[in-house]
Amino acid sequence: MSVTMDTLVSLCKRRGFIFQSSEIYGGTGSCYDYGPLGVELKQNIKRLLWRDFVQSRADMVGIDASILMHPMVWKASGHLDHFTDPMVDCRDCKLRFRADHVDALPWTHYCPATKGNKFTIPAGEPCSHCGARRTLCPDCGKGELTAPRQFNLMFKTFMGPVEEDASVAYLRPETAQAMFVNFDNVLQSMRLKLPFGIAQAGRSFRNEITPGNFIFRTREFEQMEIEYFVNPRDAVDGRPADEHWHDRWIADCMAWFRRYGLREENLRLREHEKDELSHYSKRTVDIDYRFPIGWSELMGIANRTDFDLKQHSKFSGKSLTYFDEERKEHVVPYVIEPAMGVDRALLAFMADAYVEDEVRGEKRVVLRFHPELAPVKVAVLPLLKKREEIVRAAHAIRADLAKQWRVVYDDTAAIGRLYRRQDEVGTPYCVTVDVQTVGDSEKGETGDGKATIRDRDSMEQIRAPIDALPGLFHDLLSGGAWSQVAVRFPAAK
Ligand code: GAP
Repeated sequence: MSVTMDTLVSLCKRRGFIFQSSEIYGGTGSCYDYGPLGVELKQNIKRLLWRDFVQSRADMVGIDASILMHPMVWKASGHLDHFTDPMVDCRDCKLRFRADHVDALPWTHYCPATKGNKFTIPAGEPCSHCGARRTLCPDCGKGELTAPRQFNLMFKTFMGPVEEDASVAYLRPETAQAMFVNFDNVLQSMRLKLPFGIAQAGRSFRNEITPGNFIFRTREFEQMEIEYFVNPRDAVDGRPADEHWHDRWIADCMAWFRRYGLREENLRLREHEKDELSHYSKRTVDIDYRFPIGWSELMGIANRTDFDLKQHSKFSGKSLTYFDEERKEHVVPYVIEPAMGVDRALLAFMADAYVEDEVRGEKRVVLRFHPELAPVKVAVLPLLKKREEIVRAAHAIRADLAKQWRVVYDDTAAIGRLYRRQDEVGTPYCVTVDVQTVGDSEKGETGDGKATIRDRDSMEQIRAPIDALPGLFHDLLSGGAWSQVAVRFPAAK
């Protein structure tokens, strides 16, 4: 079953993943705030990206650059001249649209064949009564649209107290440029040899004309980009090094999404047509995901050639080359750029994880997050909140496990309800403390010191000693399958 965007938006708000920004003031257009669970999920995505693509690789390093950069950066990169979208305005209601998106919108029509009755007609279709196609504003259905005008997507601001042309600055529209302008700093300080890559994760800003579809297209978003520098004179397996590494990065990024749970049938590669390539690109391949809105770009992997280093060298007057010891010559490296949107990745992981199933005749909503992505790893639940020893033991287990993972305690409902709540936010494991764990001191009974561990996906339960829990969760949360780890303990009765 595929989930709708409305279902995800409502779950995100209800369970503290994502809220509309400044909601109490009526909201800020297409800006969103990550709530307590959303921030954990997003940090997990960024941490795994960093671990798998930077920390664990000998050929990768990272940086964290300023969002505000010298304005010449944007002249050299081509953003001042080329980073534009065509826009049209409605002369009547003044709404603004991306010219190339207008035909993909449902449109309002006052039909002359039905005495001017108002209809909303699906995108691209004619009116079934009069046969007319859309020519006016798709929203109000009355105003004419202006001719397309180019609109630069960069947010402008001023550095310092005086608002004049000389102090204009831009919020970065991509994280990539900082890696190019720091190329020589990183190369010299880290004594790197080609091929090597620089990564950065951080905020980018685009004044999108038609943002929308929840966090899919927003004006402020997070990117994780890698600029991987290769020697264009080198060959790998008989192919030019840049082409070899381009294919390697495409395969590695696809494998990364699969590893953390995106299903094969929801992923595809899309090769950019020649006339669609950015001004700097020799070849670009998108990884598309089947979002609730249909197939759309999840990330792009471009071969940017030596365009950026040459441009920054030309505009700054500084040499941005690499000395090839073997050939005794300076070369301008080619760049392979895997560019990912962190928010889009989060939306894809949520959509793919969403499952509705039935347990004893009742609907169960589950986010089947990969354990390493799940915002909360373990929930500790007391079976009886009136029994002090049970509550004390549950708090102690939470505090102990929380030294390593995000672990929560909840006693605000009956156990069945508590399990459903954790399923709905994707918590992979629950620990339940009961009378058997602590015993009954009034009757002189000692407890067995064991707790019940429940697996979210299979709903199987095992009984394990409390002091074995850190080891057990270490195995489960670092990639161990439940079926292999759980066999070490008896099933709970
Ligand atoms: N440096 C190249 C670059 O920025 P891009 O295709 O424009 O390439 C890369 O952006 C990724 O950033 C996209 O694949 C998408 O995941 C994300 N992204 C771009 N614009 C976005 C927006 N307005 N809202 C959310 N994510 C966005």
